[in-house]
Parts: sequence; C-alpha cells; structure tokens
Amino acid sequence: MANEDVKYGLAGVMADDTAVSKVMPEINSLTYRGYKVQDLATACRFEETAYLIWNGDLPTQSQLDAFNAAEKKERGLSADLLDVMGKFNKRAHPMDTLRTAVSFLGQEDDTTDDSSPEGLMAKSIRMYAKIPEIVAADFRLRNGKKPIPPTDDLAFSENFFHMCFGEVPAPEIIKCFDVSMTLYAEHSFNASTFTARTIASSTSDIYSAVTGAIGSLKGPLHGGANEAVMHMLTEVGAPEKAEEWMLTALKEKRKIMGFGHRVYRSGDSRVPTMTDAYEKMVNVIGTDEAKKFWEISRILDKTMVDQKGIYPNLDFPAGPAYYLMGFEIPMFTPIFVVSRITGWTAHVIEQLADNKLIRPLSNYTGAAQRDVPAIGAR
Ligand code: COA
Repeated sequence: MANEDVKYGLAGVMADDTAVSKVMPEINSLTYRGYKVQDLATACRFEETAYLIWNGDLPTQSQLDAFNAAEKKERGLSADLLDVMGKFNKRAHPMDTLRTAVSFLGQEDDTTDDSSPEGLMAKSIRMYAKIPEIVAADFRLRNGKKPIPPTDDLAFSENFFHMCFGEVPAPEIIKCFDVSMTLYAEHSFNASTFTARTIASSTSDIYSAVTGAIGSLKGPLHGGANEAVMHMLTEVGAPEKAEEWMLTALKEKRKIMGFGHRVYRSGDSRVPTMTDAYEKMVNVIGTDEAKKFWEISRILDKTMVDQKGIYPNLDFPAGPAYYLMGFEIPMFTPIFVVSRITGWTAHVIEQLADNKLIRPLSNYTGAAQRDVPAIGAR
C-alpha cells in the first residue's frame, strides 16, 4: 500500500538549487541560463549554447573562437581506444559501447580525480570533443568500415556528419541536427542528470558521473524513446494506417513512445522548434520516404492529442529527423549524449561547487526485526 510520506519516483520533489536551466511547465517554457531554448536554437549554433551552459553567458566572438579552438584541440581518439573499440561486440547496443568508451576515457586521463573547477572544465571539453567521434567511429566499425578522423576545418555538427559519412549534407540538414543538439542539451533534474549529480555528490570523478548518466539515459522511458519512436513509425508503415494504428494501440493500453512527460503536461516547449526544423528538412530531402514519415508523424500526433490530450515530447520529432539524416536507429540515443554531455557536466560542476552527499531515506516494507535461527531450525 502506498505510504503518503513517500514521494514515489521523487515526483514533485525539489532536490537542490540549480542555475543551469529552468523548466516552466505552466507556460510551456524551458530556459538555459535565462534564454528561451527556442530562441537559442533559432539564433545560435550549438557551440554557442554549449559555451552558455558551461559559462552562464553567451560568448563574444573572441570567446567563441577560443572555446572552439579548445574543443578542436581535444578532437581525436587515442590509438588504444580505437583498438579497444574495434574489439567491441558488434551486437552490443551503441549506448553500451559508448558507456564503455567514456569509461575508457576516464582511465586514460592521469588527472581523472582532479575535480578543481579548471580540472572539471577541461574534462568536460575533452568529453564534448571526443564523444562525437566515439559515436561516429562505433557506427563505422560495426558496419565494417574504417573510422574517419575529425577535421579542424569543420564546425561541431558538420564534423560529426563528416566522421559518420565522409561528407557534409545540405545546410537545412545541418541546421536540423544543430537545432536538435541545442534542444537536447539540458533539461534540469531529469533521471540521467540526477544520476550524474548523485554520483558526483560522493566526490567521485566526472567520468564516472557521465558513465552512470549514459546508463540512465539508455532506458526507453528516458533517452531511448527517440529510437522507440522510429520503430513505431516503421511499424505503422503508411499514413493511411496511422489513425487506426493509434486507436488500436490506445485500446490495447500500449505506452505510445514519444508522448507524455513527467513535467510538461500540456506540451513540451521544445517540440514546435524541432518539428519546424524536421519539416524544413523533409522538404529539402523531398523523397517519398521522407514525406511518408512526416505524414505518419502528423496523424499520430493529432490522434493522440484528440483522443488522450497527451502531447508529443522532443523525441517524437527528433527520432524520424535523425533517421532521415541517415543515422541508424540505435545511434539516436548516443546522438542525444553528444549534446547532453554539456548539461550533465554543467550539473556536475554545479553540484561540486557546493556539494552535499545525495542520500535520501527509504520506507522499509520488509520483515520485522527477527533473530537468526540455527541452520537446523530453519
Ligand atoms: N502513452 C499512453 N499513455 C500515456 C503515455 C503514453 N506515452 N504517457 C502517459 N500516459 C498515460 C498513462 O497511462 C497514465 O494514464 P492512467 O492515469 O490512465 O494510468 C497517465 O497518462 C499518466 O502517465 P504516467 O506514466 O503516470 O506519467 P509519468 O509522469 O510517470 O510518465 C513518461 C512520464 C514520460 C515516463 C510517460 O509519459 C511515458 O512513458 N512516455 C513514453 C516514453 C517517452 O516518450 N519518454 C520520453 C520522455 S521525454
């Protein structure tokens, strides 16, 4: 029986202060350091948002140049890591290989336990620069291809496409990806960020915090939903089947991936911006497949809102957008990590600036205290 003193799932619990982002469900708004995410996604490159999340303010041109130079200096994986990645189980989910690779980065760093503000920032930039290459190299290796090294000539998003496919796509596709990076970057005390803060609170190292956060994000109730959305769109198969599919799924009480949110109850503030970028990209791609997934998405969205009043979350437009960019479905959550590394590490830095060990209480529901009987008397 539920105990009224227990906050199941920590729902409604305010666990600490944060100055990184603010979720305002009542007005459907999300701000990073005071700026609306939709404004950042429209006006800024992801690099500017990353700088903002870590530094509290948007960069001047010279600050941005120095920041990008620092990121580019950290691009490139060690031969040891690439060698180990070549031995990874090809059937493993890319979130499992990414988790292992980030843990490897931690043991490679002789200063892993340096949790000074400068040390934490250096490690955050290191992971921000190297995680895209880990995701791209893993994708190529599991397809029997050689990894493509990063190039300093390209900006963050362009470089990611270059490392995955050896080419940079149309500007609308880059913009759609860059928008998704900004929108996925940070979201207050979600499960993976809280995991990172909990690990950091024991004064463990930042790589451990990020490794744990990756494990948390992998779950389909959290980051894994963008993959599940694409599986759902594929299962639906055609726009003319979409409404019927949704009605049947709701009748069967299925959880519809990409809909609902613990905090937003009347719509996710990031969705209109992502949907707009997704639509622009569909128009540029112009294939029947692109139009088909766009149509299915529209019908599922409308039917769900009409029937249940449950709105799509960011994963709903992001899943098919990543698919149409050419990424394999199991890469979607690792791509989320490429962005969320900024938010996670900003929270670890914030946690350690004024740390208190995170250690809640539990409501014990097991056997009453009892004596240990001798083995023959059990
Ligand atoms: N499909 C169908 N019904 C849903 C739903 C969904 N995606 N999301 C919520 N609901 C329904 C629940 O069945 C429940 O109905 P009930 O009261 O009749 O039992 C009600 O809405 C409340 O949902 P609940 O699961 O208790 O809310 P929550 O805050 O615990 O869950 C999520 C939030 C995100 C875990 C949940 O909406 C979900 O599982 N969504 C799908 C996964 C997803 O897209 N995750 C990405 C999140 S960004």
